[in-house]
Amino acid sequence: MTDLRLRSLSSSPKPVMKKAVDGYSVATIPAPQTHHLLIRLLYVTSAILSISCLAYVGGRGRAPLPDAYALCSRSGAHIYTVDPAYPRAQCMVVQGSHIVDVGVIDEVHRRWESSVLAIEAAIKRSHPKPRLVTKFIESGSIIVPGISDSHAHMLEYGASRLIPLESARSAKAATALVRQFILSDEDIKQDPLKFVEGWGWDHTKWADKAFPTAAILDSDPIVRQHRVILEAKDGHAIWVNSKVLEDISPLPENVEGGVICISGVLLDNAQFLVRVPPPTYRDLEKRFQLVVDDAISYGLTSIHDAGFDPRSLEFFKLLAEKEKLPIRIYGMTHFDENTEYWGDKIKPIIGAANGRFTARSVKIFADGKSSSLPKLTSLRCHPGALRSGGAALHEPYADNPSTRGFMRIDQEVLTTTIHRFLRDGWQTNVHAVGDRANTLVIDAFESALEGINVTALRPRLEHAQIVTHPDMARIAKLGVIASVQPTHAISDMYFAEDRLGPERVKSLYAFRDIIDYGARFTLGSDAPVETVNPLSGFFAAITRLAPDGTSPHGPGGWFPEQRLTREEALKGMTLDPAWASFTENILGSITPGKRADFVVLSKDIMTIPENEILHTKVLATAIDGRPVYGRI
Ligand SMILES: *[C@@H]1O[C@H](CO)[C@@H](O)[C@H](O)[C@H]1NC(C)=O
Ligand SMILES: [Zn+2]
Repeated sequence: MTDLRLRSLSSSPKPVMKKAVDGYSVATIPAPQTHHLLIRLLYVTSAILSISCLAYVGGRGRAPLPDAYALCSRSGAHIYTVDPAYPRAQCMVVQGSHIVDVGVIDEVHRRWESSVLAIEAAIKRSHPKPRLVTKFIESGSIIVPGISDSHAHMLEYGASRLIPLESARSAKAATALVRQFILSDEDIKQDPLKFVEGWGWDHTKWADKAFPTAAILDSDPIVRQHRVILEAKDGHAIWVNSKVLEDISPLPENVEGGVICISGVLLDNAQFLVRVPPPTYRDLEKRFQLVVDDAISYGLTSIHDAGFDPRSLEFFKLLAEKEKLPIRIYGMTHFDENTEYWGDKIKPIIGAANGRFTARSVKIFADGKSSSLPKLTSLRCHPGALRSGGAALHEPYADNPSTRGFMRIDQEVLTTTIHRFLRDGWQTNVHAVGDRANTLVIDAFESALEGINVTALRPRLEHAQIVTHPDMARIAKLGVIASVQPTHAISDMYFAEDRLGPERVKSLYAFRDIIDYGARFTLGSDAPVETVNPLSGFFAAITRLAPDGTSPHGPGGWFPEQRLTREEALKGMTLDPAWASFTENILGSITPGKRADFVVLSKDIMTIPENEILHTKVLATAIDGRPVYGRI
């Protein structure tokens, strides 16, 4: 564990030259007056490296991408830097893994050449001038900083991609997909006793809208031979076949906080009746590959994983040690309140694997496990039945006055735990959906202030879905980050008002209000609950419309006054996540001195009509200056 600890890349906020872990000298946030001097210094370093290094050998059948290159648009400033000091640029210059300059094309070439001349003068030898190779993006395309998802569940997402259950339009069709998977999976072929695990069925998309049954799975002669456990898209239910039901028989009468439907669906806490063997390394590798492939194809260069369990933490640590991380991962380690406190025993990991892996934050659950607003009605085995966890509200649910939801964790335990983690220096991220849950968590942050600089630890409210106005003001004052998911707003907008009533619903997903109080926020997807495609979040945030352009309030969007501007949404997916992960000095914008993480998009999402945004393609995703997806 200690060998993973490299020093922080983000600890120095001052504009100074410093040595990054990969040996390049990099400038962090140069102040405007020192900007050009710093660029000169960078070029000096760069040029020495260029002269002494052989050409970088890259892809086949194409000129390899050199160590240093300029990436430009032929006309106009089509690089959206998300750097307020220079918001739009025509060119960016990459040297190794870092951005060394931005500007108009003549300017960056002139600066490059003069820095090379300076070098020649300095070493009094004549070298052939290392030419700055210039690449151009396609007309109509743009460059944005590498996109970050501030809240996703990586391995769960990967698991959800193994069997594409979400695409099934009936339980029968889902069963056919399970069969297909069993027949094609090498690992199951070799170990027929292995559990067949899937994720993502959604009976609300089926014609009958009914819960599926074990009998449907059993009707397939292949499927019924295996232990099959399929998690619902919302994570609240599992659908199992008879082989699994037999394993757990006799079934108990009741499960606290759960429901057993003997026809083959187990809701909420009843899910834990099934003991699935932990995934093998190979299982995790398969899941990881699927999530990485999707993520980079959508322009993601960094993911904040919203809950490592001990096994996934070990897995990611191993990948980090082997330097096998094709994407940046910022992990929150899940704290299970039923186990021992570990904040004073485990050391945070910061910037391991050349800045690709960090685990310095903890994830604590305050209320309902679901991140969508669950419906609390009655304990019945039919769709729309109890969703036990629920958001903890100040006042009862509008459609069920008998309950106001509940906290998952005892309030005193919650407060003590938050205080301990903060005191031990952990970024403390708390899952809070309902307005009461949010209030109690903010209370705990506030009462920790004595002796602890809470603002410096940048605690986060994961979801922050329903937040009262006084709490929004407190979030802003304390420097707490609201980590929100715009696509949830679109998923919930058709039933949210029934749950919360016409007044309280206004404090749900009230992104504009949160900003207006001066609070910081950051955007994420909560994949696999929603798609991991950040453009879906971007679209939802700026339109508050379903992808087909509709909303309960018409084509102008659901509570359109809460829409974000495109600039805010882009920042929410780039620089804000960098802040939320203590990396704003090295990531999040196209700024000289930062790492060269960037994305080339086929269309200008900052200006095209809204209905074209979801048709935008990712042409290239680059991390540390090298494409990991597409071409430059
Ligand atoms: C707390 O930390 C913040 C951010 O690092 C800093 O701006 C502020 O001055 C600190 N407050 C105190 C009281 O030290
Ligand atoms: Zn989540």
